[in-house]
Amino acid sequence: MKPTYQDALAYYGVNGAHPGGLALTKTLLEQELITAATKILDAGCGTGQTSAYIKKNYPCHVTSIDYHPTMIKRAMSRFKKEQLSISLFQGSLEKLPFADNSFDIILVESVLIFTNWKKSLSELKRVLRPNGVLLASEMTSERKLSPNEQYNMSSVYGIEKVLTEQEWINDIQEAGFTSVEVKVSHSVFSHLLNAPEIDEEGLDLNVPGNADMENKLMEHSHILYAYGNIVGYRVYRAIC
Ligand SMILES: C[S@@+](CC[C@H](N)C(=O)[O-])C[C@H]1O[C@@H](n2cnc3c(N)ncnc32)[C@H](O)[C@@H]1O
Repeated sequence: MKPTYQDALAYYGVNGAHPGGLALTKTLLEQELITAATKILDAGCGTGQTSAYIKKNYPCHVTSIDYHPTMIKRAMSRFKKEQLSISLFQGSLEKLPFADNSFDIILVESVLIFTNWKKSLSELKRVLRPNGVLLASEMTSERKLSPNEQYNMSSVYGIEKVLTEQEWINDIQEAGFTSVEVKVSHSVFSHLLNAPEIDEEGLDLNVPGNADMENKLMEHSHILYAYGNIVGYRVYRAIC
């Protein structure tokens, strides 16, 4: 079976696999109140880069979850190597293994679109405490995509569809969140023009070459280049 985009990210251990990378994450975190009592969930943590950054730079509690076994292995070895006390779980955003009102801030960086996002949003709402903050960076289309454009995006990413900004806002509100605001807004091309710093950690080149995995990452680059004006991302901030 051909690997999915997530498999390829996991295989090569792609860090900061969300638009804006760790540089954007740092800026977003600076704008939140984070104390020793704050409980943060990194939902869909991938290789654990964001979680590790938070633990090293803030005095708070960090919990991370992802469903991909290779991502979990990578995050676990990162936390162990860096001796970080982070609670790591393998599980799905669609059915979170946490009690109601468990977190003050939830970061979800380029994850919802790969899930049944309505289910995931409702779970994130459940585990976030009242007045807690959701920060979601998600792929967003600049306009409604044609069926053909949606098909091409779905084939590369294995997703149901790419939502417009208004569709994301509607679905976040429908899950029960309030005060939804768009904090950052870029098409792929406008993002590249404002290029943030390159992620210094890059990816893991110690794994054996794998043509299928490489092809998947190439497909990703090609479609983003082809659709650079009609696809981009937004950071949505919402209150529980
Ligand atoms: C594009 S990567 C982003 C990873 C990380 N947030 C980052 O910015 O580097 C998407 C991540 O979401 C995870 N993921 C996808 N669907 C998921 C689900 N239903 N539950 C938990 N994690 C999921 C994948 O395993 C992958 O690690």
